[in-house]
Amino acid sequence: MIELTGVHKSFGTLEVLRGIDLTVESGTVTVILGPSGSGKSTLLRSINHLEKIDRGRVRVDGELIGYRQAGDKLHELGERQILKQRAKIGFVFQNFNLFPHLTALENVAEAPISALRKNKSETYERARALLGRVGLADKADVYPRQLSGGQQQRVAIARALALEPRLILFDEPTSALDPELVGEVLDVLRDLAAAGTTMIVVTHEIGFAREAADTVIFMDEGRIVEQGPPARVLDNPRHDRTRTFLSKVLS
Ligand SMILES: Nc1ncnc2c1ncn2[C@@H]1O[C@H](COP(=O)(O)OP(=O)(O)OP(=O)(O)O)[C@@H](O)[C@H]1O
Ligand SMILES: [Mg+2]
Repeated sequence: MIELTGVHKSFGTLEVLRGIDLTVESGTVTVILGPSGSGKSTLLRSINHLEKIDRGRVRVDGELIGYRQAGDKLHELGERQILKQRAKIGFVFQNFNLFPHLTALENVAEAPISALRKNKSETYERARALLGRVGLADKADVYPRQLSGGQQQRVAIARALALEPRLILFDEPTSALDPELVGEVLDVLRDLAAAGTTMIVVTHEIGFAREAADTVIFMDEGRIVEQGPPARVLDNPRHDRTRTFLSKVLS
């Protein structure tokens, strides 16, 4: 479903992605681990063309992301086409990024109505159901500042789901949360995984990776160092760098 081939990205002289090849099957959960600065966020952002890559290809369901190919030349798509592609890929950020002046319900309904021009009353009905799905049926009419971090993040997940994305990318969805709020967000992620949502999750929550991931990827210095089923990568890593990293996050 997702295919990255030879993806390179530099910021100035800093090479952040050094040739990423990655395939993600539909309906699977991929967890990305790796030290700070290893390129995890840049990789996620490249998948929906929030970062322009320097070399390589990103395909989602066979569709080239960010470009169209003419012969062997690539031409960047126009803003509207890029936004259209992006609407099919959910993105959940570390810091929720909710609109502060909109209620929880309005946050969830906003993009389908303004970007996809969906019917208003149907969208609100669906938005209510999505808030129910993340356990927030009773919080539809409150503003983000009236919600805990865990609740705000669950609204952000409902908002991503409202666009009925083909896949959802999560960038450290629990790292800004107090420890007692992490569990409620991971529960929602587990439900999505069980429902067959295609997800790529950057996280340091090893327990979640172990239970919910089909594939665990370890990144370091812009490369995928190893990948495989969680039991293999987490309990029996082949590379010293993976072992060192795991001993730090597990201690
Ligand atoms: N817009 C940018 N301009 C310049 N450098 C950047 C930019 N975005 C990221 N970088 C650099 O690219 C490298 C990789 O950043 P990235 O955010 O992908 O790392 P990460 O693995 O997500 O780290 P963390 O675990 O801290 O979130 C870092 O050295 C970072 O400083
Ligand atoms: Mg990051």
